[in-house]
Amino acid sequence: MKCKKCGEKASVNMRQHRMALCRDHFIEWIPEQTERFIRKYRMFTRDERILVAVSGGKDSLSLWDILVRLGYNADGLYLGLGIDAPTSLSAGSEIGYSEESHRITAEFAQKNGLKLHVVDIEKEYGHSIPVLSQISHRGFGKPCSVCGLTKRHEMNRIARDLGYDALATGHNLDDEAAVLFGNTLNWDADYLLRQGPVLPEAEGLARKVKPLCRFYEREMTAYAIARGIEYIYDECPFAEGATQVFYKETLNRLENTRPGVKLTFYLRFLEAKQNGELFVEKETAQTHLHPCEKCGQPTSAPGLCSFCRMLEKASVPS
Ligand code: AMP
Ligand code: FES
Ligand code: ZN
Ligand code: ZN
Repeated sequence: MKCKKCGEKASVNMRQHRMALCRDHFIEWIPEQTERFIRKYRMFTRDERILVAVSGGKDSLSLWDILVRLGYNADGLYLGLGIDAPTSLSAGSEIGYSEESHRITAEFAQKNGLKLHVVDIEKEYGHSIPVLSQISHRGFGKPCSVCGLTKRHEMNRIARDLGYDALATGHNLDDEAAVLFGNTLNWDADYLLRQGPVLPEAEGLARKVKPLCRFYEREMTAYAIARGIEYIYDECPFAEGATQVFYKETLNRLENTRPGVKLTFYLRFLEAKQNGELFVEKETAQTHLHPCEKCGQPTSAPGLCSFCRMLEKASVPS
């Protein structure tokens, strides 16, 4: 295989695009494409301040790297989840997953002279994610739902408190296609209406953007390696067996026989949604949001938001 741009030996073959590139052209192509997506979906401009949620994984570190290379004003946010010490919930997680991802993220920031905000959930709320999950009795023995809830709540709170214009996450095409697959299997209209590369700012909610949503996971792995970015290889020890993983495997099987199917699935969805072909845009739930009595973030139920209810169940003052 030869590089489409220079004819040298290609190092990344993208069957779905019928294109192969050498290393040098590949690490130029990724930011060029990202810039296209940022403009196409009107994510943010160079005058705005972006907060990149960085987990220490290949996607979010690459995202930070790309935005900085493109000249965007992007700081990082790392949330310490405390997925380290073995608990009855976390057999086999003695690897110090959170400690290691913190170290990698902090080193990346330092090496590149970037600003990183670090917020530790245990320091903030008294307990790590696995413990919060246990004492709030949410999630049927798996902390992933408490973890997701907490991450969303904290990312939104911090982006707003610190006055950022947009919060960027490293979700890639494989993540987005898997979520879309799940939402479609359940015909979850509310989630389908909200899924997309940009979630606009609303009362109490920061603008959320996913600049990598059109890149395959393997493209992001190739980018991180080609750029020499050190990232945490291990998945979160709780991720194994999650439904999301099953959807990803299923889509990969489809992709193997029909290259490009994942991208088409996601892009056709976005197009259809934009053209109003999927649903009659019903009044969004946001018009019925109320501020949570404790933290002030918007919630659809009157009273406390689900994060504060979770804390209350765990008897943690928020
Ligand atoms: P996940 O939900 O683990 O698939 O992660 C999706 C995205 O959320 C990542 O690409 C990051 O942008 C962000 N993220 C996940 N974990 C963290 C963390 N501990 N701190 C900051 N951002 C995170
Ligand atoms: Fe949150 Fe695994 S449970 S990252
Ligand atoms: Zn080339
Ligand atoms: Zn609340």
